[in-house]
Amino acid sequence: MPVPKILVFAGSIRSGAFSIRTADAAVGELARQGADVTRVSLVDYPLPIMDEDLEREKGIPENALRLGRLIAASDGLLIASPEYNSSIPPLLKNTVDWVSRIRRDNGRAFRPFAGKVAALCSSSDGAFAGVRGLYHLRSVLMACGVEVVTPQCSVGRASEAFDEDGGFREERLRQAMENVVRALVERAHMFSTAVER
Ligand SMILES: Cc1cc2nc3c(=O)[nH]c(=O)nc-3n(C[C@H](O)[C@H](O)[C@H](O)COP(=O)(O)O)c2cc1C
Repeated sequence: MPVPKILVFAGSIRSGAFSIRTADAAVGELARQGADVTRVSLVDYPLPIMDEDLEREKGIPENALRLGRLIAASDGLLIASPEYNSSIPPLLKNTVDWVSRIRRDNGRAFRPFAGKVAALCSSSDGAFAGVRGLYHLRSVLMACGVEVVTPQCSVGRASEAFDEDGGFREERLRQAMENVVRALVERAHMFSTAVER
């Protein structure tokens, strides 16, 4: 049975980011459930602000193509994001927007997001746990042709949520992460067996 390949990244590059810690917890759970995990940080894929003049003059930035190739090589994505003003942080939105503009790579038709499946996690030190931003992120990814699994894991009061080993103190969160990862792995497995890469 093929092992689903899952790409994991956080929607923040802040040092000590809660979303990076949430992504770390997701990586641990993905490994426990037998996924082949690739972990990246958006700090390694800096991009200019999306600007159609820039796109017309210079084309798609190489960092968007690099990330697009990683997405295309994966069966599924797991994104752990903060929310900014109840929505998607600009770093993540800008990255998704650039990757969504890719049409070709080396002369061949290429749409990195097409037919991919994703799972979403959020975190915040507040009580809402970033959950409002995930509704926007879900909607944006669906507009890009990504299927987003229904379960999600949102970590509230994030400064107190993790133990010394990076696990969740609360069983409720451990269970939520297990559920979202299971949904992603199952769906990604169906995609990986149905789609010839
Ligand atoms: C512009 C801005 C808007 C924010 N809006 C929200 C918000 O709507 N909800 C929330 O829970 N936290 C909000 N925050 C606080 C972030 O959740 C907090 O900075 C968090 O630590 C960022 O995520 P990170 O730890 O993954 O970097 C906002 C922060 C910034 C800078």
